[in-house]
Amino acid sequence: MDKIVIRGGERLIGEVEVSGSKNATLPIFASCLLSEGTNVFHNVPNLKDVQTIIKVLNNLGVNVYKQGEAYRIDTKEITNVEAPYDLVKTMRASILVLGPLVARTKRAMVSLPGGCAIGARPINLHLMGLEAMGAKIQLRHGYIEARADELKGADISFDTVTVTGTENLMMAATLARGKTILHNAAMEPEVVDLANVLTKMGARIDGAGTSLIEIEGVKSLHAVEHTIIPDRIEAGTLMVAAGVTRGNIKINKAPVQHMQTIIHKLRESGMEIEPDGDGLRVVGMKRIRSVDVKTQPYPGFPTDMQAQFMVLMSLARGLSVISETIFENRFIHVSELQRMGADIRIQENTAIIQGVESLSGAPVMATDLRASASLILAGLAAEGVTQISRVYHLDRGYEGLDKKLSRLGAKIERVKEGS
Ligand code: EPZ
Repeated sequence: MDKIVIRGGERLIGEVEVSGSKNATLPIFASCLLSEGTNVFHNVPNLKDVQTIIKVLNNLGVNVYKQGEAYRIDTKEITNVEAPYDLVKTMRASILVLGPLVARTKRAMVSLPGGCAIGARPINLHLMGLEAMGAKIQLRHGYIEARADELKGADISFDTVTVTGTENLMMAATLARGKTILHNAAMEPEVVDLANVLTKMGARIDGAGTSLIEIEGVKSLHAVEHTIIPDRIEAGTLMVAAGVTRGNIKINKAPVQHMQTIIHKLRESGMEIEPDGDGLRVVGMKRIRSVDVKTQPYPGFPTDMQAQFMVLMSLARGLSVISETIFENRFIHVSELQRMGADIRIQENTAIIQGVESLSGAPVMATDLRASASLILAGLAAEGVTQISRVYHLDRGYEGLDKKLSRLGAKIERVKEGS
């Protein structure tokens, strides 16, 4: 296993480009199961999670291959309907093949994804919606066995806003007979990018990006070509990197229109953020102001930026309060940041951060994707050397982040564990 070694204190200067969105790519790749033909995608990020969804598709008999920078996904036929435990356990988002499989082949055998470091992450709402559309669901031996003679449109209301739940049911509804209405649907930009792909395939969808989505089922869908939207969370992570190093960077291809709340909170902390060409000019200041944040479904402050923002607040002047309302256990990074000198107290789902003058480098361990990003950000700012182990978490969701930071002047390198 690799580790990342950072000598902190370097200001980040220069230009960097945002990669395609992980959380748009995963549902969009799964949606290919609905269309008959060869789909072509551009701006796909090179991530472990993308390799995993490709393995899941291969296991279903789907041919996926690269042609230049583009990915081609051939779903003329589906020869298997099982998403096995050994794949699903490495990436919960594999559950996104459930809706399309039931819609296209009327059957699915998908391993229950189980929980992860940040929470139990149930999928009851995914299953509730499919049953409302007429699917018969059985949970046996750790698998979801779903069958449907025919899916029919249904009126579905989510108790909790769920991103992949909205995506799974929106996909299933595209081939159902009649109209499906999703109430309290997720409004994330990745949901909209998926809806744009489905619409290109011939689906009839209204309201994507709002909390009320209507889908009129059609008989079949055809293959499409599409360019994946940029990753707003990677862009936000790079902005915080400028903030904690008093850097001055230009972030190309930043999806500004998807980042309004992130930009607002970073400006409130004292950072200068201005449009610059097709991206953003981001300047960190010596004096970081403390800002309170509460994570919310889009368009609120994203939970996937919570750990990163906490690093900025750990260096701010004064007291800030971060409330995590989406996941029940998304403060695992706090104990590692405390080992680097951060002054953070946890009270249930709230973190109270007293800013400190500086953090100190230390050996730390990544526990989940965004926690690993926050430890890198802390290492960039810390005095001395920080060693981060278990960086395989990072590689799931960031395309060459260490290389991008190194090109901006960070003293950061990836070394083999044990060396
Ligand atoms: C998506 O996960 C993202 N992953 C997550 O990003 C992100 O943190 C999350 O949405 C919230 O924005 C992908 O898009 C692949 P949810 P998802 O269903 O869909 C509860 C990252 O770092 N819930 O929106 O799994 C659930 O427990 C990852 O890139 C139910 O109770 O999250 C949670 O409290 C991490 N029942 C809340 O809803 C259900 O059936 C939101 O979860 C489904 C969800």
